[in-house]
This record gives sequence, structure tokens and C-alpha cells, in this order.
Amino acid sequence: MPEWNTGELIAADKRFVWHPFTDMREWCAPEHERLVLVEGRGALLRDSNGREYIDGNSSIWTNIHGHNHPHINAAIRRQLSRVAHTSFLGCMNPAAIEFAQAIVALFPDTPLTKVFFSDDGSTGIEVAIRVADQYWRLRRSRRYQFIAFRSGYHGDTAGAASLGAASMFQTRSSRWNFPAIQVSDFNTLSALTPAEIAKIAAVVIEPPIQGAAGMRVWTSGTLRAVRDWCSRTDTL
Ligand SMILES: Cc1ncc(COP(=O)(O)O)c(C=O)c1O
Repeated sequence: MPEWNTGELIAADKRFVWHPFTDMREWCAPEHERLVLVEGRGALLRDSNGREYIDGNSSIWTNIHGHNHPHINAAIRRQLSRVAHTSFLGCMNPAAIEFAQAIVALFPDTPLTKVFFSDDGSTGIEVAIRVADQYWRLRRSRRYQFIAFRSGYHGDTAGAASLGAASMFQTRSSRWNFPAIQVSDFNTLSALTPAEIAKIAAVVIEPPIQGAAGMRVWTSGTLRAVRDWCSRTDTL
């Protein structure tokens, strides 16, 4: 195991790094010392002082297969030995094509037949709302508003944040906000009038659980009811 100088790393972090959703005055306070994580194996993480921890939330639900997974590491090494990165604009590459095909195969007999690759959850949502907006514009439709569920979290790019819980992520300046309406549950959604529905481009929902809101599971049948409502009202 390489020797890590924990004190130096913490000092350099405080000097050069901004952390997300973090009060940097608190973070940079002299008494504030966070873990310097240097290794991971399976569900365990090790810090720079050699202590081990269970990664109980899978690095905030992004590491579902565990750290240093031999199969994933081998696939990454294999790809690195071919090429580390190619542009997707005007070009293609075999790994992405194969991956898209595998994703589409998960959704047989649905209209989900093509994949648009994005960088992360936030920009995935950002792309989805822009695609939905463009879909209706191309049909010369007046549908432009998005329905989101109260307390939801969809990411921290400007469009995704507009859909999320106001207290957590929205800026006060309306210049940044997308036209979103928040509903508390399916009953509120189903009470919308035909005139209101005529302006709705799409409904965005976290299935099957609102994670950042505190692991709130939808009551049984909610997703099916939302899906059916969208089909009935011709909403994306
Ligand atoms: C439901 C949901 N959507 C979007 C995001 C944003 O993803 P990312 O952090 O990869 O941008 C998250 C992140 O936790 C999420 O839980």
C-alpha cells in the first residue's frame, strides 16, 4: 500500500477543491477533517490511515457492483488498450453501439428503441426534457410545461434542478428555472383540467423511490397509474 500523507492531502484539498452541496467555510475550518479514501474492494473502502469502512450507501448509490470489481476492471483495461476516448459527434465506436443495443434489448415491445448517451444523471434528465420540448415544438404544439413530484430530486444542472425540490436545489432567480409544476401525488395529477393538461409536455418521476427526499417509496400502483394517465392524456 502506498504511504499517504493525510495532513498534506487535507491541506491541499482545502486549498484547491470545492465540494458539492457543501458549506466551504465549515469544510475549511481547522478542526474539520474528513476521510481521505484511497482504496476500495467490494463493499469496503479504506482511508489513508488504513482504516476500513463499509460503503453502506454504495458511494451515494452509484457503485452498485462494488469497488474494484474484477469483471468491470478487466473490461475497462481491455477498452483502454484500444482507445480511451473518441468523440461521438460525427463518429461512432463499437463499445457504444454494443451497449446501446443491449440497453434497447431490455425494453422489448416498447417505443424505447434508441439510446442517447449523456454524462450523468443530471445531464440525462436535462437531455430528456429538451428532447421532450423539441418533440412538441416539431409538432407545433403548445405543450411546454413539465410536471414533477414534490420533494423529488432529478439532479443539479439548471433544468433538472427546476424539477426538483425547491428548498434544496432551485435558485431564486426565475431566469434559471424551467417551466415546471410540482404535484404532491397522483391524485393532484389526475385532478388537472383539460386546459391545464393541454400545456403539459411531460411528467418526470423517480421510480420506484424518491431517494434524496428520504427514501420515500411510492405507494403500490402509483407508477402504473402515472403511466396510464400519460397514455390517456398523450403526455410524455
Ligand atoms: C433520481 C435522480 N435523478 C438524477 C440524479 C442526478 O444524478 P448525477 O448526480 O449523476 O448527476 C440523481 C442523483 O442522485 C438521482 O437520484
